[in-house]
Amino acid sequence: MIYSIVLAAGKGTRMKTELPKCAFPLLKKPMISYILESLKGSMVEKNIVILGHKKEYFSDLLDDCLIAYQNEQLGTAHAVKMGLELLNEGITIILPGDAPLISSEIIDGLINEHIENKNELTVGAMVVNNPFGYGRIIMKDDSFVGIVEEKEATEEQKQINVCNSGLMVVNNDVLKKAISQVKNDNSKHEYYLTDIVYYIERKGISLIKNVELLTGVNDLYTLSCLEEFLRDSINRKHMYNGVNIINQSSVIIGPDVKIGKGTVIMPNTVITGNTEIGENSIIGPSSELHNAVIMNNATVKHSVVYDSKVCDNATVGPFAHLRMNTIVGENDRIGNFVEIKKSTLGSNTNAAHLTYMGDSIIGSHVNMGCGVITVNYDGKNKNKTIIGDNVFVGCNSNLIAPVEIGDGAYIAAGSTITKDVPNDALAIARSNQTNKEDYAKKYKK
Ligand code: UD1
Ligand code: CA
Repeated sequence: MIYSIVLAAGKGTRMKTELPKCAFPLLKKPMISYILESLKGSMVEKNIVILGHKKEYFSDLLDDCLIAYQNEQLGTAHAVKMGLELLNEGITIILPGDAPLISSEIIDGLINEHIENKNELTVGAMVVNNPFGYGRIIMKDDSFVGIVEEKEATEEQKQINVCNSGLMVVNNDVLKKAISQVKNDNSKHEYYLTDIVYYIERKGISLIKNVELLTGVNDLYTLSCLEEFLRDSINRKHMYNGVNIINQSSVIIGPDVKIGKGTVIMPNTVITGNTEIGENSIIGPSSELHNAVIMNNATVKHSVVYDSKVCDNATVGPFAHLRMNTIVGENDRIGNFVEIKKSTLGSNTNAAHLTYMGDSIIGSHVNMGCGVITVNYDGKNKNKTIIGDNVFVGCNSNLIAPVEIGDGAYIAAGSTITKDVPNDALAIARSNQTNKEDYAKKYKK
């Protein structure tokens, strides 16, 4: 059996943030989720995650994994020790939970090399320009002797730029014996996983080429560098697929976003989560989309779309906000300062200015005038507004929910509608106007 152990119990002290490091988002996706996805795509059969510090942050992120707890963070060897009980016969790849870009290919490459070389331990090594913070690989006469951590390294050892990537493959029986021998007699009084090297005979290093993908995130600056690297490579992939990204350095697209060809992404736009965008749409400038579905030939500009769908040929914005499972229908026009929450709109419906629609079902060919509000909240409950097809709602009307407006009805501007309106009726709910002749003139005198 091939196992993995992912180390994610650490505090991430150097991040200086509340969130535990391995749950920290990279392009709005937690680091640990990247690693687990790469493991799923690899030859590893069973994944074990070691949790400790603020473990509750991980509860939704770990499907199909075995979990072991390290209640006190006494070092990486101690963390691995907590998972040993879950290992039967076989081999284990150990991964740091703070190196999110490690790919399935890197994982499989290291495991295969370990098996081919009949090693007991294979350490993934990398050559880096700035080795600061990494464990240095110590060689003697071409053979691998050990790993020295930054804090323990002599000035001479600090010059070594062949470093420990944090990835190791090790035979389970050997791992169990070696871990129990590791001591904490070092400057941090931690049990260093890297010390198992000294208790294992048949060991080797494997030089991994794609160094950027091995970067371990210890602080917010490194996280930002990694995010920039990932952002650029994601955008490049979309552009090669025919997505036109204008001023691409200002555009952030998450790793799971899908975009059809012919679509244009304008500057200062952030698209994340499981967003899917069709072909020939225009997104941005200055828009934020998260878990959105935008179909073909649609436009979303200067707007925010969360967990919502925009159908073919619809236009959204400038300055609109769609959220919580809203569906904007085909050919709809949603304009300035319109907010739509948990509502479904039919096709060819317009809400061009200053409207709030919440908890509503709105038909096709409906015109929502400027300033219309579905009054969905009575202070306790959220209530529904249902509007049929071909309805015209005059400007500045309040529709007090729960309320239903029949097909073809008209609502006079300025009405406050509290009762259902039948099909094809005109509802007027406002006080009558009286004109007092010459009153203003007299008043001014
Ligand atoms: C570690 C390695 C170093 C390597 C580098 C690669 C050790 C001693 N050092 O250093 O040789 O070059 O990774 O990125 O292993 N963790 C726990 N429990 C603990 C301590 C840490 O689960 O008690 C977890 C952390 O959450 C983290 C991972 O182990 O995901 C690595 O810990 P970190 O403190 O980042 O180690 P580095 O100093 O980067
Ligand atoms: Ca690290």
